[in-house]
Amino acid sequence: MSKLTGSKKATQFTESVIREMTRLNHLYGGVNLSQGFPDFPAPDAIKAAACEAINGDVNQYAVTWGARPLREAVAREFTRRYGLPIVADEQVTVCCGTTEAMMATMMAIIDPGDEVVIFEPFYENYGPDAILCGASPRFVRLREPGWSYDPAELERAFSNRTKAIVINTPNNPTGKVFTREELSHVATLCRKWDVVAVTDEIYEHILYDGAEHVPLASLEGMRERTVTISGVSKTYSVTGWRIGYCLAPPTLTSAIRKVHDFLTVGAPAPLQEAAAVALESSPSYYAKLADNYRERRDYLLPALEAAGFRTFKPRGAYYIMTDISAFGAPDDVSFARSLVSSVGVAAVPGSSFYADPGAGRRRLRFHFARRRETLEAAVERLNRLKAGAPTV
Ligand SMILES: Cc1ncc(COP(=O)(O)O)c(C=O)c1O
Repeated sequence: MSKLTGSKKATQFTESVIREMTRLNHLYGGVNLSQGFPDFPAPDAIKAAACEAINGDVNQYAVTWGARPLREAVAREFTRRYGLPIVADEQVTVCCGTTEAMMATMMAIIDPGDEVVIFEPFYENYGPDAILCGASPRFVRLREPGWSYDPAELERAFSNRTKAIVINTPNNPTGKVFTREELSHVATLCRKWDVVAVTDEIYEHILYDGAEHVPLASLEGMRERTVTISGVSKTYSVTGWRIGYCLAPPTLTSAIRKVHDFLTVGAPAPLQEAAAVALESSPSYYAKLADNYRERRDYLLPALEAAGFRTFKPRGAYYIMTDISAFGAPDDVSFARSLVSSVGVAAVPGSSFYADPGAGRRRLRFHFARRRETLEAAVERLNRLKAGAPTV
C-alpha cells in the first residue's frame, strides 16, 4: 500500500457522519437537527466572564492540567452534588472538551489489544477513540424501547482481557439514564475483573420525569477505579469553547495529564476562567435548563410520531431516537440524505451509532437543542412526510 494514504488506524474509521449531515444541511439550507449543539445564546454572565478574562490579559497558556479556579470549581461542585471528596490538585484535569478528555483517558489507560466494553448504540466518537488507542471493543447492546441491556450479555463481555468500560449516562443517542441498579451491576463486574470505568456524564444536568443522575464513581469501591468525564459544552450552551474535564484517582490522573499535555498542552485559558464562573451557577439555572429541554422534547416527540416516526422517549440528554420502518426506505443513510435534500430537515442515520451498521438501518436520531421557532420550522417540513413526500 502506498505510504501516502495515511495510517492503518486512520483508514479504519470514516469521517464523522454527524458532522457530514451538518455540511449537507448547509448545502440544502435545511433545519439542522443532526449535530447536537444549541442555536440559542449562552448565558450573558458567562459570556461577560470570558470577555473579562481576555481583557484582563488571561491570554497565555494556563497550567497544562487546568487553571486552578476551574479545577477547584469542578472539585467543589462534584463534592457538593454527589458527596464525593475530590482533591483538585491530584484528581482534576481540564481538557479541550469532553472529546479530548475521553481520548486522553483512553490513551492513558489502554494498551494495544486490551478489550474495552462499550454499550451500543454509542456516541460515535468512542469507535475511533478505541481504534486510535489500539483497543479491541466489545459491544453490549442496549435494546429499545427502554434501552435496557441483558445482564448475562454484559457479564459475558468481561474477562481478564477487559481493561475498561465506557458508560455514557444520560446517554446519546438513546436518552437512556442508567439506573442505580444497572450501575451497581456494572460496578460489581468492574471490581470482579479489576476494570477501569470511564464515564461520559456530559448531559448530567439534562434529566426529565424525575430521572436521577448517578455518577458511577459514587458507588462503593468505584472512586478508585473510575474516570468521570464531563464538560461545559451542553450545560452552559458553549460547545465551541472546548472545555471539558476529568476526575480520576491520582495514579490515573498522572497518566492522563501526561497524554493531555502532549496532545494539546492545555485548554483555552480565558475560557477556563469563564467556565469556573459558569460552574457557580445557581440551582435554579440547572432546573430551568432541564425544564426548557423537557418542553422542547414534549413539543418534538408527538410531532415526530404524527409525521410517521416511531419514537423512544428520552429520560435525559437532548436527542430522540426514532424508528423509520413506516417509511419503507431502503436504509437509514439514504433516508437521512433524502430527508435533508427533499424535505429540508437534517437528522443522523442510526447506523453511525452501531459497530454493525445493519443494527441501525431502521433508526434516525433527531436532537432538540433548538429555539422553539427552529423546531416549529422543522415540524412544518416534517409534516410534508405525512403527505407522502415522493422522494423519501
Ligand atoms: C455523549 C457525548 N460526549 C461528548 C460530546 C462532545 O463533548 P465536548 O463538546 O465536551 O467535546 C458529545 C457531543 O455531542 C456527546 O454527545
